[in-house]
Amino acid sequence: MKILTVVGARPQFIKAAALSRVLRKEHTEILVHTGQHYDYNMSDVFFDELSIPHPDYNLGVAGGTHAQMTGRMMIAIEETLMQEEPDALLIYGDTNSTLAGALSAVKLHIPVIHVEAGLRVGTLTSPEEVNRICADHVSYLRFACVESSMEFLRKENLLQNSYFVGDPMYDAFCYYSRGLNGIYGEITDYDGQAVQVPERFYYITCHRQENTDTEDTLCEILSAMNSLEYPTIYPVHPRNRAMALGLKEKYGFNNVIMTQPVGYLTSISLIKHCEKVVTDSGGLQREAFFAGKQCVCILGFVAWPETMVDNRNQVSAPDRAEILSKLNAKMTINPAYTPFGDGHACERMCEIIKKVF
Ligand code: UD1
Ligand code: UDP
Repeated sequence: MKILTVVGARPQFIKAAALSRVLRKEHTEILVHTGQHYDYNMSDVFFDELSIPHPDYNLGVAGGTHAQMTGRMMIAIEETLMQEEPDALLIYGDTNSTLAGALSAVKLHIPVIHVEAGLRVGTLTSPEEVNRICADHVSYLRFACVESSMEFLRKENLLQNSYFVGDPMYDAFCYYSRGLNGIYGEITDYDGQAVQVPERFYYITCHRQENTDTEDTLCEILSAMNSLEYPTIYPVHPRNRAMALGLKEKYGFNNVIMTQPVGYLTSISLIKHCEKVVTDSGGLQREAFFAGKQCVCILGFVAWPETMVDNRNQVSAPDRAEILSKLNAKMTINPAYTPFGDGHACERMCEIIKKVF
């Protein structure tokens, strides 16, 4: 089978690293990078470190409003689809690249395979919710990472051709964690200086539109981190780089070490060695769970309900007192509880693709 995969944003490169390796054993894959993420440390670093095949196409579409970005991507993806004539299009998650891929393919009657289907947070104010609902509804085949996603698919009458397979992010975490000792690679700050990671530290990522649209929100979150007993490592996403660096300049936040975005191997090594994680990232909150680290998730909704047990992951408003109180809650871990599968979701997806097509 000829499968055309569309990726564009950091978390999709990581999922593609896990699935492409298995998929290419049986199928021809054409890899299309929309260009949504384009800085070296937001894109190429993942292809280099994780040995992801070089994209066959880079569409060079980034920035602009949601409609501008999605529209430009659709035009370019449609051209590529007409040229390549694949048997199916494969998309990951819920970014604008996901939506553009889904809509372009379904209009050309090319079956869409959606990996990470069925996630719902219950509000259309989240741009990712809009993308994932649309992608699920136009997909021919849907792969869910967790059981709760199957339940959302059932409620939306989408159970046909929907399968719970486990989480490819967990596959990636298991595969790339092997042989990782200590903090991987070099971390640099925004002056280009090497960062010394302290022996004990917290790890934060925070880039969502909801948390970085106004200075006050990010300031509140940084203020909580700054008051902790150990320093915090904060790789800053380019979306809010200017704001984060500006706040540091204004308020000091000397206990928060802001760095450039790091590669995936560095990120998972930071998770494994940190005290606790604070994040608004869908990927990082699961990785904290995989690594057995307590997490506080700064979002107005629950994205991954399976992680919200025994105080392993708790939602907090961007409020200093609430973040600190949730970080102090006692966590317990039941090792028999493994809702994200067994690290072989990708093999399962490939078997199902073979069976269904
Ligand atoms: C996107 C996804 C989000 C995902 C995140 C992963 C959508 C709607 N959102 O958000 O679901 O969690 O990726 O990281 O698709 N920029 C750069 N260099 C880059 C990439 C981005 O400077 O390499 C800047 C651009 O100015 C851009 C801004 O960051 O306008 C935001 O990037 P964008 O891709 O629109 O959204 P993300 O916040 O990255
Ligand atoms: N990540 C990374 N470098 C960073 C920050 C995060 O490699 O500087 C990894 C992180 O470990 C996880 C993924 O990127 O695997 C999450 O991506 P992101 O937070 O950008 O998107 P989301 O998961 O929220 O969609």
